[in-house]
Amino acid sequence: MRRGPFKRRNGVELDLDDIQATVLRRRPEPYYGTHALVEILDQQQGRQALGLLREQVAAVDTPFESSPAWTAVAITYQGLVALGVPESSLATFPHNFCEGMAARAKQLRDEGPNDPRGWQPPFGSGRVHLAISVYAASEAGWQARVADYQSRLASFPGLRVVYQQDFGAQPGDRNAFGYKDGFTQPVVQGSGEPAHPGDGEPIKAGEFVLGYPSETGVPLPQPQPDALGRNGTYVVFRKYQSHVAAFNEYLHRNASTAAARELLAAKLVGRWRSGAPLALAPAHDDPDLGADDNRNNDFRYGNDQQCLVTPRGAHIRRMNPRDTQMSILANVNIRRIIRRSTTYGTPLPADAVRDDGQERGLDFIALGVRAIDNVEFLQSEWVSSGNFMGLGKERDPMLGIQERNPYFTVPGTPPRRVKGIQSFNTLRGGEYLFMPSLTALDWLANLPDTV
Ligand code: HEM
Repeated sequence: MRRGPFKRRNGVELDLDDIQATVLRRRPEPYYGTHALVEILDQQQGRQALGLLREQVAAVDTPFESSPAWTAVAITYQGLVALGVPESSLATFPHNFCEGMAARAKQLRDEGPNDPRGWQPPFGSGRVHLAISVYAASEAGWQARVADYQSRLASFPGLRVVYQQDFGAQPGDRNAFGYKDGFTQPVVQGSGEPAHPGDGEPIKAGEFVLGYPSETGVPLPQPQPDALGRNGTYVVFRKYQSHVAAFNEYLHRNASTAAARELLAAKLVGRWRSGAPLALAPAHDDPDLGADDNRNNDFRYGNDQQCLVTPRGAHIRRMNPRDTQMSILANVNIRRIIRRSTTYGTPLPADAVRDDGQERGLDFIALGVRAIDNVEFLQSEWVSSGNFMGLGKERDPMLGIQERNPYFTVPGTPPRRVKGIQSFNTLRGGEYLFMPSLTALDWLANLPDTV
């Protein structure tokens, strides 16, 4: 693992025994896991099942017996309704969460190939109520955890698993395009998490966990009652299908040697596939740097305002501009998200330019009290427009829905416009969820009957 499981340390101010592990714990490396989506057809059984599942949900400080494996549970707005959460409480959740991701397509700029009308069922159908995720460091740990939730659900005919997807990355922990990922994460103040060089100043816990002071000095609005809201957070889940052969083909069309293709691939993302940042390794990949947590995030862009090393439009520079001078000012600290994304599907052989018809990609998972607002902001402004960086209509090279005659600018003398860029990732579905604390899971499991 890159960073070990959390332990209570001096300076810990958060209820680590109540906050779900996934909020503050990184994926293991390598990792195995499953996401299951469940529909609740029977309210009482839904609560009983939640009570049973809750026994398996890990808190941040849950000790592991051998290798780490843990279960997380999150709930959609429709799930809260299906569980019979009182109207007075439902009314205290933010409106974008209540509307759900599909209804927010306009704000997310989910159009064309990403339009919810083309999503894979059951996403966006209102039938996704619970999400159960298992994260594990070993195959055995993963299978045991999956068998466990399956046996807990088996006795409830009033619950239906409507989707199940295995994920994982081994060996090398690479995503579908062959990039190592999961590097930059905000440091949560009071969590006891060790900061590594370049991680930046710790950010107030209330930005990521409900019930604590945020960057504004006071806690952000919290669902009521306190037992339901405190120590919870929001989750954005977006399933992307990656078009790896199209990506490789784009590299081949625009670069004639393997070295030039790798450089272009690094310019698109801002990191080489090993994870080494261009900012620290401008000319060649440096796998030792990529593997070194004390160095691989220790950079800013202040000495590269011309963007000659890391293009202005590179995915990581758009998503976290650090100290880049921007045309439209933004408080970068409140735009930070915790990412727990997971890779699925068998990798396509490196450099293959023909698709094999297999589905592979990335489940983008963001957590935080402002996660929904932030992903809506990132999608509409920093992914789908270039204005904040003086890039006009240019869009994010990994995520943007590319329009007619799209290109990606590699600054230099002269700058190069690399044409023929495509939408390399298509959105296949997504949901907004609430990840309750363990106390809140108990509260939900013990709600009085409303029907
Ligand atoms: C298929 C979809 C995506 C792919 C293949 C992808 C790929 C990557 C890669 C390779 C990195 C660099 C390594 C790392 O730190 O993890 C990265 C970083 C990042 N990505 Fe994505 N990403 C995807 C979707 C998204 C989405 C939807 C968002 C937000 C709306 C996002 C936001 C970020 C952020 C904030 C970083 C860290 C930037 C930094 O702090 O330096 N990504 N992504």
